Amino acid sequence: MRRKLAAGNWKMNGLAASLSELDALTTAHADPKVDILICPPAPLISAAVVQAADHPLAIGGQDCHSAASGAHTGDISADMLRDAGASHVIVGHSERRTDHGETDDDVRAKTRAALEAGLIAVLCIGETLEEREAANTLEIIAGQLAGSVPDLVTAENLVIAYEPVWAIGTGKVPTLNQIGEVHDFIRTKLIQRFGDGVGNSMRILYGGSVKGSNAADIFAVSNVDGALVGGASLKAEDFSPIVSALESA
Ligand code: 13P
Repeated sequence: MRRKLAAGNWKMNGLAASLSELDALTTAHADPKVDILICPPAPLISAAVVQAADHPLAIGGQDCHSAASGAHTGDISADMLRDAGASHVIVGHSERRTDHGETDDDVRAKTRAALEAGLIAVLCIGETLEEREAANTLEIIAGQLAGSVPDLVTAENLVIAYEPVWAIGTGKVPTLNQIGEVHDFIRTKLIQRFGDGVGNSMRILYGGSVKGSNAADIFAVSNVDGALVGGASLKAEDFSPIVSALESA
């Protein structure tokens, strides 16, 4: 049985006042049947960790550098995230792949750094609209998995997030069949590479315009073990129904 995960990616949103949303979330889900993770912007991580202490709420970063330390102005190492109390980090988000030109090689190096620091990596993959329209989705997914995922992963320290780029922040969601096709494909690839044990136990999240209104349908799709949620994770009143839908799935 894979423990389900409801993850929120606040992206570049939120000030200190936004941390009150964490209180609302932990009040609404004091004893959740699923894992809950919030990844606030880096300046809020330490305060979020303090606020989440004694609650079943994990706090994560949104990116890390591949090096442990050094002359990389503005960057954050995995060790620093861990030191601040984070337990997870998102790597390879399409916004970083696009905005910062991150390649699969970069993402693999970041993932390795995250795992070495003792963090759980939430590794994002997904096709663009052009790639889907050219019927290249599965080829792109296979390439990203092969290129971005390092060898030494376990089902405990890596989570895959399938986020079609065209579904992020657009309100467009793939059909349930399309989601199922990609998630089943990812599962097959994980089993081929890491064997039945790890391949079957690693969690695969769906991300892209998940909302309270579509969450239950998405969570009923095979091999969907939770969600990575952007916009609808910013407010507890929006995220809580997604957590509840996952608990009932
Ligand atoms: P939205 O839920 O806002 O579409 O964002 C998804 C996402 O990119 C999460 O990482």
